[in-house]
Amino acid sequence: MTAQLEYPDPLASDALLSIQDLWKVFGPKADRVPRRPDLARLDRKDLYQQTGCTAAVRDLSFDVAPGEVFVVMGLSGSGKSTLVRCLTRLIEPTAGSIYFEGEDLRAADEKRLRTLRRSKFSMVFQHFGLLPHRKVIDNVSYGLEVRGESKPDRRRRAQEVIDLVGLAGNEQLYPEQLSGGMQQRVGLARALANDPDVLLFDEPFSALDPLIRREMQTEVARLHREVGKTMVFITHDLSEALKLGDRILLMRDGAAVQLGTGDELVGAPADDYVREFVRDVPRADILTLRWIVRQPRPDEQLDGPELGPDVLVREATRLVLESDRPVKVVAEGQLLGVIDDEAILAVVADPDPSASRPQDG
Ligand SMILES: Nc1ncnc2c1ncn2[C@@H]1O[C@H](COP(=O)(O)OP(=O)(O)OP(=O)(O)O)[C@@H](O)[C@H]1O
Ligand SMILES: [Mg+2]
Repeated sequence: MTAQLEYPDPLASDALLSIQDLWKVFGPKADRVPRRPDLARLDRKDLYQQTGCTAAVRDLSFDVAPGEVFVVMGLSGSGKSTLVRCLTRLIEPTAGSIYFEGEDLRAADEKRLRTLRRSKFSMVFQHFGLLPHRKVIDNVSYGLEVRGESKPDRRRRAQEVIDLVGLAGNEQLYPEQLSGGMQQRVGLARALANDPDVLLFDEPFSALDPLIRREMQTEVARLHREVGKTMVFITHDLSEALKLGDRILLMRDGAAVQLGTGDELVGAPADDYVREFVRDVPRADILTLRWIVRQPRPDEQLDGPELGPDVLVREATRLVLESDRPVKVVAEGQLLGVIDDEAILAVVADPDPSASRPQDG
Protein backbone atom coordinates (compact mmCIF):
# COMPACT_ATOMS: atom_id res chain seq x y z
CA MET A 1 0.00 0.00 0.00
CA THR A 2 2.01 2.96 -1.23
CA ALA A 3 -0.80 5.49 -1.55
CA GLN A 4 0.70 7.66 1.16
CA LEU A 5 4.15 7.86 -0.36
CA GLU A 6 5.38 11.00 -2.04
CA TYR A 7 6.81 10.79 -5.51
CA PRO A 8 9.28 13.63 -5.56
CA ASP A 9 10.56 15.59 -8.52
CA PRO A 10 14.31 15.91 -7.88
CA LEU A 11 14.59 19.14 -9.82
CA ALA A 12 11.68 20.81 -8.09
CA SER A 13 12.36 19.63 -4.55
CA ASP A 14 14.79 20.98 -2.02
CA ALA A 15 15.38 17.47 -0.71
CA LEU A 16 18.90 16.56 0.28
CA LEU A 17 18.38 12.99 -0.85
CA SER A 18 15.79 11.98 -3.37
CA ILE A 19 15.17 8.33 -4.13
CA GLN A 20 12.99 7.25 -7.02
CA ASP A 21 11.74 3.86 -8.13
CA LEU A 22 14.74 2.23 -6.50
CA TRP A 23 15.22 -1.52 -6.86
CA LYS A 24 17.88 -3.92 -5.70
CA VAL A 25 17.41 -7.43 -6.94
CA PHE A 26 19.86 -10.20 -6.05
CA GLY A 27 20.10 -13.24 -8.29
CA PRO A 28 20.51 -14.31 -11.91
CA LYS A 29 19.60 -11.73 -14.58
CA ALA A 30 18.42 -9.42 -11.84
CA ASP A 31 17.85 -6.40 -14.04
CA ARG A 32 14.95 -7.97 -15.91
CA VAL A 33 12.85 -8.04 -12.73
CA PRO A 34 12.12 -4.29 -12.42
CA ARG A 35 11.63 -4.02 -16.19
CA ARG A 36 9.09 -6.79 -16.54
CA PRO A 37 5.73 -6.08 -14.92
CA ASP A 38 4.91 -9.79 -14.77
CA LEU A 39 8.00 -10.36 -12.60
CA ALA A 40 7.96 -7.04 -10.75
CA ARG A 41 4.59 -7.75 -9.22
CA LEU A 42 5.43 -11.22 -7.89
CA ASP A 43 5.74 -11.55 -4.13
CA ARG A 44 9.03 -12.63 -2.60
CA LYS A 45 8.36 -16.35 -2.63
CA ASP A 46 6.96 -16.54 -6.16
CA LEU A 47 9.72 -14.32 -7.53
CA TYR A 48 12.32 -16.59 -6.02
CA GLN A 49 10.63 -19.74 -7.29
CA GLN A 50 10.27 -18.43 -10.83
CA THR A 51 13.57 -16.60 -11.23
CA GLY A 52 15.90 -17.45 -8.33
CA CYS A 53 15.96 -13.73 -7.53
CA THR A 54 15.26 -11.80 -4.33
CA ALA A 55 14.02 -8.22 -4.50
CA ALA A 56 15.69 -6.80 -1.39
CA VAL A 57 14.57 -3.27 -2.30
CA ARG A 58 11.41 -2.99 -4.31
CA ASP A 59 10.37 0.18 -6.07
CA LEU A 60 11.05 2.66 -3.28
CA SER A 61 10.58 6.42 -3.68
CA PHE A 62 11.09 8.98 -0.96
CA ASP A 63 12.78 12.27 -0.13
CA VAL A 64 14.95 13.07 2.84
CA ALA A 65 14.89 16.73 3.80
CA PRO A 66 17.99 18.59 5.00
CA GLY A 67 18.31 18.15 8.76
CA GLU A 68 15.70 15.42 8.89
CA VAL A 69 16.04 12.22 10.90
CA PHE A 70 14.61 9.66 8.51
CA VAL A 71 14.05 6.27 10.10
CA VAL A 72 13.78 3.01 8.16
CA MET A 73 12.05 0.20 9.99
CA GLY A 74 11.04 -3.33 9.18
CA LEU A 75 11.46 -6.92 10.26
CA SER A 76 14.67 -8.81 9.64
CA GLY A 77 15.15 -9.37 5.91
CA SER A 78 12.86 -6.52 4.86
CA GLY A 79 15.71 -4.80 2.99
CA LYS A 80 16.84 -2.03 5.36
CA SER A 81 20.59 -2.65 5.16
CA THR A 82 20.44 -3.14 1.42
CA LEU A 83 18.59 0.15 1.05
CA VAL A 84 21.03 2.17 3.12
CA ARG A 85 24.00 0.67 1.25
CA CYS A 86 22.38 1.48 -2.07
CA LEU A 87 22.22 5.16 -1.10
CA THR A 88 25.97 5.58 -1.61
CA ARG A 89 26.19 2.68 -4.06
CA LEU A 90 28.17 0.47 -1.72
CA ILE A 91 25.60 -1.91 -3.13
CA GLU A 92 24.84 -1.19 -6.77
CA PRO A 93 21.10 -0.62 -7.29
CA THR A 94 19.42 -2.62 -10.02
CA ALA A 95 17.14 0.22 -11.16
CA GLY A 96 15.92 3.65 -10.15
CA SER A 97 17.58 6.90 -9.25
CA ILE A 98 19.34 8.52 -6.32
CA TYR A 99 19.85 12.25 -6.22
CA PHE A 100 22.02 13.88 -3.60
CA GLU A 101 21.91 17.68 -3.53
CA GLY A 102 20.47 17.45 -7.03
CA GLU A 103 23.39 15.32 -8.28
CA ASP A 104 22.54 12.05 -10.00
CA LEU A 105 24.55 9.52 -8.00
CA ARG A 106 23.85 6.71 -10.38
CA ALA A 107 25.74 8.66 -13.04
CA ALA A 108 28.74 9.28 -10.75
CA ASP A 109 31.97 7.43 -11.49
CA GLU A 110 33.96 5.47 -8.89
CA LYS A 111 36.28 8.38 -8.10
CA ARG A 112 33.41 10.77 -7.52
CA LEU A 113 31.66 8.19 -5.36
CA ARG A 114 34.73 7.72 -3.18
CA THR A 115 34.98 11.46 -2.71
CA LEU A 116 31.32 11.68 -1.78
CA ARG A 117 31.54 8.75 0.62
CA ARG A 118 34.52 10.35 2.31
CA SER A 119 33.28 13.89 2.55
CA LYS A 120 29.48 13.87 2.49
CA PHE A 121 28.39 10.60 4.09
CA SER A 122 29.40 8.73 7.22
CA MET A 123 28.20 5.36 8.34
CA VAL A 124 27.72 3.97 11.83
CA PHE A 125 27.44 0.18 12.00
CA GLN A 126 25.90 -2.27 14.41
CA HIS A 127 29.24 -3.88 15.22
CA PHE A 128 31.12 -0.61 15.59
CA GLY A 129 33.82 -1.58 13.05
CA LEU A 130 36.65 -0.04 15.06
CA LEU A 131 40.30 -0.72 14.29
CA PRO A 132 41.48 -2.86 17.24
CA HIS A 133 45.14 -1.82 17.14
CA ARG A 134 44.45 1.89 17.14
CA LYS A 135 43.74 4.02 20.14
CA VAL A 136 40.45 5.89 20.43
CA ILE A 137 41.95 9.11 19.13
CA ASP A 138 43.45 7.33 16.12
CA ASN A 139 40.24 5.49 15.35
CA VAL A 140 38.39 8.79 15.37
CA SER A 141 40.91 10.57 13.17
CA TYR A 142 41.31 7.68 10.73
CA GLY A 143 38.97 9.14 8.11
CA LEU A 144 40.79 12.47 8.26
CA GLU A 145 44.08 10.67 7.73
CA VAL A 146 42.67 8.94 4.66
CA ARG A 147 41.60 12.36 3.44
CA GLY A 148 45.16 13.55 3.78
CA GLU A 149 44.70 16.15 6.52
CA SER A 150 47.71 17.26 8.54
CA LYS A 151 48.39 15.69 11.91
CA PRO A 152 47.66 18.82 14.01
CA ASP A 153 44.36 19.35 12.16
CA ARG A 154 43.41 15.71 12.67
CA ARG A 155 44.19 15.83 16.35
CA ARG A 156 42.26 19.02 16.89
CA ARG A 157 39.19 17.79 15.05
CA ALA A 158 39.32 14.33 16.68
CA GLN A 159 39.53 15.89 20.13
CA GLU A 160 36.55 18.13 19.33
CA VAL A 161 34.28 15.22 18.43
CA ILE A 162 35.59 13.04 21.25
CA ASP A 163 34.51 15.78 23.63
CA LEU A 164 31.20 16.11 21.79
CA VAL A 165 30.27 12.44 22.29
CA GLY A 166 31.35 12.42 25.93
CA LEU A 167 34.55 10.38 25.61
CA ALA A 168 37.05 12.94 26.89
CA GLY A 169 39.76 11.27 28.95
CA ASN A 170 39.62 8.01 26.96
CA GLU A 171 41.67 9.13 23.97
CA GLN A 172 44.61 6.81 24.64
CA LEU A 173 42.62 3.62 25.29
CA TYR A 174 42.22 0.78 22.82
CA PRO A 175 38.75 -0.40 21.73
CA GLU A 176 38.96 -3.63 23.76
CA GLN A 177 39.40 -1.52 26.91
CA LEU A 178 35.99 0.11 26.34
CA SER A 179 32.44 -1.02 27.08
CA GLY A 180 30.05 -1.57 24.17
CA GLY A 181 28.40 1.79 24.72
CA MET A 182 31.74 3.56 24.75
CA GLN A 183 32.85 1.73 21.61
CA GLN A 184 29.76 2.93 19.83
CA ARG A 185 30.52 6.46 21.01
CA VAL A 186 33.85 6.06 19.25
CA GLY A 187 31.90 4.93 16.18
CA LEU A 188 29.78 8.06 16.46
CA ALA A 189 32.79 10.32 16.93
CA ARG A 190 34.52 8.76 13.94
CA ALA A 191 31.41 9.34 11.83
CA LEU A 192 31.18 12.96 12.93
CA ALA A 193 34.90 13.68 12.57
CA ASN A 194 34.87 14.34 8.86
CA ASP A 195 31.84 16.60 9.18
CA PRO A 196 29.56 14.73 6.77
CA ASP A 197 26.25 16.07 5.48
CA VAL A 198 24.48 12.78 6.06
CA LEU A 199 24.95 10.21 8.79
CA LEU A 200 23.81 6.71 7.92
CA PHE A 201 23.10 4.43 10.86
CA ASP A 202 22.51 0.72 10.39
CA GLU A 203 21.06 -0.56 13.67
CA PRO A 204 23.88 1.05 15.62
CA PHE A 205 22.56 0.21 19.06
CA SER A 206 21.10 -3.25 18.68
CA ALA A 207 24.19 -4.92 20.17
CA LEU A 208 23.90 -2.80 23.32
CA ASP A 209 21.93 -3.67 26.41
CA PRO A 210 18.65 -1.79 26.86
CA LEU A 211 19.84 0.80 29.36
CA ILE A 212 22.93 1.78 27.40
CA ARG A 213 20.83 1.70 24.31
CA ARG A 214 18.43 4.28 25.69
CA GLU A 215 21.35 6.41 26.76
CA MET A 216 22.79 6.27 23.24
CA GLN A 217 19.43 7.23 21.73
CA THR A 218 19.33 10.27 23.95
CA GLU A 219 22.89 10.98 22.86
CA VAL A 220 21.99 10.84 19.17
CA ALA A 221 18.97 13.08 19.76
CA ARG A 222 21.24 15.56 21.54
CA LEU A 223 23.87 15.40 18.80
CA HIS A 224 21.18 15.98 16.24
CA ARG A 225 20.03 19.07 18.10
CA GLU A 226 23.60 20.33 18.41
CA VAL A 227 25.05 19.54 15.00
CA GLY A 228 21.80 19.34 13.01
CA LYS A 229 23.00 16.65 10.60
CA THR A 230 20.67 14.81 8.28
CA MET A 231 20.34 11.23 9.43
CA VAL A 232 19.07 8.03 7.89
CA PHE A 233 18.59 5.70 10.80
CA ILE A 234 17.80 2.02 10.52
CA THR A 235 16.29 0.17 13.40
CA HIS A 236 13.79 -2.52 14.14
CA ASP A 237 12.98 -1.03 17.50
CA LEU A 238 9.79 0.99 17.32
CA SER A 239 10.40 3.01 20.45
CA GLU A 240 13.80 4.00 19.03
CA ALA A 241 12.13 4.97 15.77
CA LEU A 242 9.50 7.05 17.55
CA LYS A 243 12.07 8.70 19.78
CA LEU A 244 14.42 9.73 16.99
CA GLY A 245 12.51 9.86 13.73
CA ASP A 246 10.94 12.90 12.14
CA ARG A 247 9.44 10.41 9.73
CA ILE A 248 9.45 6.64 9.60
CA LEU A 249 9.48 4.43 6.53
CA LEU A 250 8.14 1.00 7.30
CA MET A 251 9.33 -1.73 4.91
CA ARG A 252 8.15 -5.25 4.27
CA ASP A 253 9.81 -7.63 1.79
CA GLY A 254 11.70 -4.75 0.22
CA ALA A 255 8.67 -2.55 -0.37
CA ALA A 256 7.34 0.49 1.44
CA VAL A 257 4.28 -0.19 3.54
CA GLN A 258 3.87 3.24 5.09
CA LEU A 259 5.80 6.49 5.29
CA GLY A 260 4.78 9.00 7.88
CA THR A 261 5.41 10.61 11.22
CA GLY A 262 5.26 8.45 14.31
CA ASP A 263 1.79 9.67 15.22
CA GLU A 264 0.57 8.92 11.69
CA LEU A 265 1.78 5.34 11.93
CA VAL A 266 0.20 4.92 15.35
CA GLY A 267 -2.97 6.89 14.63
CA ALA A 268 -3.63 5.66 11.11
CA PRO A 269 -1.75 2.42 10.42
CA ALA A 270 -1.92 1.61 6.69
CA ASP A 271 -2.55 -2.08 7.19
CA ASP A 272 -2.36 -4.98 9.64
CA TYR A 273 1.42 -5.19 9.35
CA VAL A 274 1.78 -1.61 10.57
CA ARG A 275 -0.93 -2.12 13.17
CA GLU A 276 0.97 -5.12 14.51
CA PHE A 277 4.18 -3.08 14.64
CA VAL A 278 2.65 -0.25 16.63
CA ARG A 279 0.36 -2.37 18.79
CA ASP A 280 2.27 -2.10 22.01
CA VAL A 281 3.32 1.54 21.98
CA PRO A 282 1.97 3.79 24.73
CA ARG A 283 -0.39 5.61 22.41
CA ALA A 284 -1.10 8.44 24.81
CA ASP A 285 2.57 9.42 24.53
CA ILE A 286 2.53 9.43 20.72
CA LEU A 287 -0.91 10.59 19.65
CA THR A 288 -1.78 14.26 19.77
CA LEU A 289 -5.22 15.77 20.25
CA ARG A 290 -5.68 16.18 16.50
CA TRP A 291 -6.13 12.40 16.33
CA ILE A 292 -9.03 12.27 18.76
CA VAL A 293 -10.82 15.58 18.29
CA ARG A 294 -14.48 15.41 17.26
CA GLN A 295 -17.12 17.89 16.15
CA PRO A 296 -19.13 19.39 19.04
CA ARG A 297 -22.72 18.25 19.44
CA PRO A 298 -25.39 20.96 19.04
CA ASP A 299 -26.26 20.89 22.73
CA GLU A 300 -22.69 21.07 23.98
CA GLN A 301 -21.46 24.08 25.92
CA LEU A 302 -18.34 25.50 24.37
CA ASP A 303 -16.95 27.44 27.28
CA GLY A 304 -14.47 24.82 28.48
CA PRO A 305 -10.68 25.16 28.52
CA GLU A 306 -8.69 25.33 25.30
CA LEU A 307 -5.72 23.31 24.06
CA GLY A 308 -3.75 23.16 20.80
CA PRO A 309 -4.01 20.19 18.40
CA ASP A 310 -0.35 19.21 18.91
CA VAL A 311 -0.66 18.59 22.63
CA LEU A 312 -0.04 14.93 23.48
CA VAL A 313 -3.01 12.97 24.79
CA ARG A 314 -0.95 12.14 27.88
CA GLU A 315 -0.38 15.82 28.60
CA ALA A 316 -4.06 16.65 28.14
CA THR A 317 -5.45 13.79 30.19
CA ARG A 318 -5.61 15.53 33.51
CA LEU A 319 -7.14 18.76 32.25
CA VAL A 320 -9.77 16.92 30.22
CA LEU A 321 -10.74 14.54 33.02
CA GLU A 322 -10.93 17.35 35.58
CA SER A 323 -12.98 19.67 33.40
CA ASP A 324 -16.77 19.32 33.57
CA ARG A 325 -17.04 20.76 30.07
CA PRO A 326 -15.51 19.37 26.86
CA VAL A 327 -12.05 20.77 26.19
CA LYS A 328 -11.88 22.81 23.00
CA VAL A 329 -9.11 22.15 20.50
CA VAL A 330 -8.17 25.42 18.89
CA ALA A 331 -5.57 26.20 16.22
CA GLU A 332 -4.87 29.79 15.16
CA GLY A 333 -8.10 31.00 16.70
CA GLN A 334 -10.18 28.35 14.92
CA LEU A 335 -12.15 25.72 16.77
CA LEU A 336 -11.18 22.29 15.41
CA GLY A 337 -13.53 20.44 17.74
CA VAL A 338 -13.73 19.11 21.25
CA ILE A 339 -12.24 16.38 23.42
CA ASP A 340 -14.12 14.69 26.22
CA ASP A 341 -13.32 12.06 28.85
CA GLU A 342 -14.45 9.29 26.55
CA ALA A 343 -11.97 10.22 23.82
CA ILE A 344 -9.11 10.41 26.29
CA LEU A 345 -9.98 7.12 27.95
CA ALA A 346 -10.27 5.42 24.57
CA VAL A 347 -6.59 6.15 23.96
CA VAL A 348 -5.31 5.60 27.47
CA ALA A 349 -7.22 2.40 28.12
CA ASP A 350 -8.04 0.84 24.74
CA PRO A 351 -5.34 -1.33 23.21
CA ASP A 352 -6.92 -1.26 19.73
CA PRO A 353 -5.35 1.54 17.67
CA SER A 354 -8.26 1.77 15.23
CA ALA A 355 -10.41 3.03 18.11
CA SER A 356 -8.60 6.35 18.09
CA ARG A 357 -9.06 7.19 14.44
CA PRO A 358 -10.39 10.73 13.90
CA GLN A 359 -14.18 10.66 14.16
CA ASP A 360 -16.85 12.97 12.91
CA GLY A 361 -20.33 13.80 14.08
N1 LIG B 1 24.33 -10.36 -1.29
C1 LIG B 1 23.10 -10.88 -1.26
N2 LIG B 1 22.75 -11.89 -2.08
C2 LIG B 1 21.51 -12.40 -2.08
N3 LIG B 1 20.52 -11.99 -1.27
C3 LIG B 1 20.80 -10.98 -0.43
C4 LIG B 1 22.10 -10.37 -0.36
N4 LIG B 1 22.06 -9.39 0.58
C5 LIG B 1 20.81 -9.41 1.07
N5 LIG B 1 20.05 -10.35 0.47
C6 LIG B 1 18.64 -10.64 0.77
O1 LIG B 1 17.91 -9.42 0.69
C7 LIG B 1 16.93 -9.35 1.70
C8 LIG B 1 17.11 -8.09 2.51
O2 LIG B 1 18.30 -8.18 3.27
P1 LIG B 1 18.79 -7.00 4.22
O3 LIG B 1 20.07 -7.42 4.81
O4 LIG B 1 18.77 -5.74 3.46
O5 LIG B 1 17.64 -6.98 5.30
P2 LIG B 1 17.54 -6.16 6.68
O6 LIG B 1 16.19 -5.53 6.69
O7 LIG B 1 18.72 -5.29 6.82
O8 LIG B 1 17.56 -7.33 7.76
P3 LIG B 1 18.17 -7.33 9.27
O9 LIG B 1 17.16 -6.62 10.11
O10 LIG B 1 18.24 -8.79 9.59
O11 LIG B 1 19.51 -6.66 9.23
C9 LIG B 1 17.06 -10.65 2.49
O12 LIG B 1 16.10 -11.55 2.02
C10 LIG B 1 18.45 -11.12 2.19
O13 LIG B 1 18.52 -12.52 2.23
MG1 LIG C 1 20.27 -5.18 8.27
